[in-house]
Amino acid sequence: MTGGLDGLARNSSARPGDLLDELTAVSRAPAGEATAGGPARPAPAVVELVDVTRSFPGPPVVDALRSVSLRIEPGDYLSVIGPSGSGKSTLLNLLGLLDRPTSGDYLLDGVPTGRASESVRSALRGGRIGFVFQSFHLLPQRTVLDNVLLATLYSGVPRGERQERARAALERVHLSHRIGFTPTTLSGGERQRVAIARAVVASPHLLLADEPTGNLDSTNSVEIMELFDELHADGLTLVVITHDPAVSARARRRVRITDGRLTELDR
Ligand SMILES: Nc1ncnc2c1ncn2[C@@H]1O[C@H](COP(=O)(O)OP(=O)(O)O)[C@@H](O)[C@H]1O
Ligand SMILES: [Mg+2]
Repeated sequence: MTGGLDGLARNSSARPGDLLDELTAVSRAPAGEATAGGPARPAPAVVELVDVTRSFPGPPVVDALRSVSLRIEPGDYLSVIGPSGSGKSTLLNLLGLLDRPTSGDYLLDGVPTGRASESVRSALRGGRIGFVFQSFHLLPQRTVLDNVLLATLYSGVPRGERQERARAALERVHLSHRIGFTPTTLSGGERQRVAIARAVVASPHLLLADEPTGNLDSTNSVEIMELFDELHADGLTLVVITHDPAVSARARRRVRITDGRLTELDR
């Protein structure tokens, strides 16, 4: 199947949207043994990690993830906790298709990604994954609206439609009254909400957040947690890495990483 996907990706005339449509068709295609009229195949997990390891060659070699298996279903809200150096960012980089496993595979919406080409991986990343980071990464000289609009620049969508989507994303994070402001004039919580609007403007299936409240005081953290609750209620699949027990407690599922090994908590 990987060869087929790579073939799709090499078709230079394909727009990113077409490629995503075709990837979805491939990942949702019935299994060979299924018969017409048979039971519908259940929707694939958003995330399926199959015995994933990630080693950094060093020296010394670091086994940052050891034999991690994890299924995240559509609409799950998962938090990941663990001490510094335990492998949390390594896990998030793998989930975000910014890095590849050393062994094992990662299926995103049923599409195997471990050995997929960079063009397949970047089409999946751009079309299905949103990222939120601890330090917002906003452009300080641009307006709130521009910061969100810039994320839609390579979507192939006409500018008028991109404007509408950006405004809708800002409405979703309750910042419609701040679209002409620059980030420097906003509170920390408002800045992170702009970053969240930017992350959801392309309607991702999966939102990945790495310490999203790490730079915020408790009032602003609560604002972000409430927003995550709303996104979860809308059906978005969320993975939040955090040191903060209050943030972790809001998730519907909790996992811990210790020394590269993942364990499920209280399930
Ligand atoms: N690019 C890299 N090269 C070598 N070692 C790395 C690299 N990235 C992370 N590591 C090591 O992998 C382990 C896990 O790191 P990381 O995932 O960043 O931890 P966390 O986010 O939980 O603090 C650490 O021992 C770290 O030093
Ligand atoms: Mg980290």
